[in-house]
Amino acid sequence: MNSFFLTTPIYYVNARPHLGHAYSTIVADSVVRFHKMLGDDTFFLTGTDEHGDKIVQAAEKGGRSPQKFVDEISARFQSLWAQLGIANDRFIRTTEPGHKRVVQTFLQRVHDAGDIYFGAFGGHYCYGCERFYTEKELENGLCPQHRTRPEFISEKNYFFRMSKYLPWLKSYVEEHEDFIRPRRYRAEALAMLEAGALEDLCISRPKTRLQWGIELPFDKDYVCYVWFDALINYISALGWPDDQNFARYWPGEHLVAKDILKPHAVFWPAMLKSAGLPVYGHLNVHGYWLVREAKMSKTLGNIIEPVEMSRRFGLSAFRYFLLREMRFGEDARFSEEALVKRINADLSNDLGNLFSRVLSMTAKYFGSRVPEPSVFLQEDEAIAELCLHSLQNFVRLFGGMRFDAALESLWETVRALNKYVDRQTPWMLYKQGDTARLATVMYVLLTAMRKTALCLWPIMPDASRQMLEQLGSPAVGNAPPVTALGEEGISFDGPSPGTIVAAASNLFPRIEMKKDTPQKT
Ligand code: MSP
Repeated sequence: MNSFFLTTPIYYVNARPHLGHAYSTIVADSVVRFHKMLGDDTFFLTGTDEHGDKIVQAAEKGGRSPQKFVDEISARFQSLWAQLGIANDRFIRTTEPGHKRVVQTFLQRVHDAGDIYFGAFGGHYCYGCERFYTEKELENGLCPQHRTRPEFISEKNYFFRMSKYLPWLKSYVEEHEDFIRPRRYRAEALAMLEAGALEDLCISRPKTRLQWGIELPFDKDYVCYVWFDALINYISALGWPDDQNFARYWPGEHLVAKDILKPHAVFWPAMLKSAGLPVYGHLNVHGYWLVREAKMSKTLGNIIEPVEMSRRFGLSAFRYFLLREMRFGEDARFSEEALVKRINADLSNDLGNLFSRVLSMTAKYFGSRVPEPSVFLQEDEAIAELCLHSLQNFVRLFGGMRFDAALESLWETVRALNKYVDRQTPWMLYKQGDTARLATVMYVLLTAMRKTALCLWPIMPDASRQMLEQLGSPAVGNAPPVTALGEEGISFDGPSPGTIVAAASNLFPRIEMKKDTPQKT
């Protein structure tokens, strides 16, 4: 059995969770579910990043102690994930005592390896990014991310000899084509490594300036830089160094957006190498959701609340939209119009309609029992072939993080099935009393619908279970409906003849946009 470990970024608790956070976590959830269906031994990690200046400032603003503040916001993230159907195996918080111990063990190791030194330091510090910028990296003296003027801070600090590992890292990235993917981010990472602009990493903050952090094991006057602490979550959650989960699941894969490419593509592999640990398997990088042409931010007032969206439009539809609309790696635009358009076109007109018409015909012609098929004609073979082909494409594309293309490939079958109904005209066969032919047509449809519903489980588990239930195979617990999706593609086997299916189906009601308020009809 293959093991598959996937992580999301651990989110800062200085703000409420929004669509961007939800996207990363929903993608990760879908990918892990997909691997479950392939039969892999999976472990899915998410959590919150709770140290650093940013958090202290946000807590002060809210008039609370940092601990109280992080407890509150972290709980909000956890409850959000439950509402979005996220089935993570572990939720890590960097303020957990266990994580703190692991960070100290890691720091001590790197220190013992001679990779940490004490030195004077002056740099342009952006509180928003929680990092120092070099003169060269600033744009017109401003932080390129936040467009604010960083503060010049000069103090003595501890440094991680990152530069020592950069030549190794560069060849590693060059030799491993899909270590960082899609390709454009690999190229971006290589450009960072080539520029020679990277210096050693400052990994401490004096307690005189910041107390909200993990104390360095070799100097009690300093706390650990928040990024150094945060990245270690990926192994502390597996109980490194002693827990058997580390041996079982590491190296895993990470999923992040392009804003945090550098710490994941540069700092983290260098840290792992210095500690004598194997580097991660893949870094999967996605783009931004833009709302009205801009990245979401409180100041722009264009924050999209994921729970509100899923309440108004349905969780399954919302998750489908996110995976279908964004090409992984590129930016995508979010708007309610685009969401409603997809729901109406793909889910109501194509998929929902197929279920509704086929199930009501099965009720009328066969008393809601799956009929025994007779001989397959050429058009039936063609549909069966298309369906298996699209399932194989789905598995290949989804496995390669090409979610939009994977779903498009599945929808080729959905649309072809609707056309098949129009062409085979079951109502005419019924009228003509051609029961044998009618049985084959309905059997082909129900079989292909089952395949489609199975493929959709990772993306929309609720709707998939509902579809499978309507097709007479009720799901057990929260387990995947099949555990060998690859093998499913080999044969065109449907619900067995005689199985009782639902008499009607109304999976995705059309949504009419009336001014600002969408209404389900
Ligand atoms: N705490 C760090 C990560 C540490 S990981 C060891 C951090 N947190 S964050 O709360 O700012 O989250 C950043 C991540 O949120 C992005 O990498 C991405 O996964 C998600 N997104 C935030 N805004 C986003 C968009 N507008 N669009 C898509 N995803 C975005 O950075």
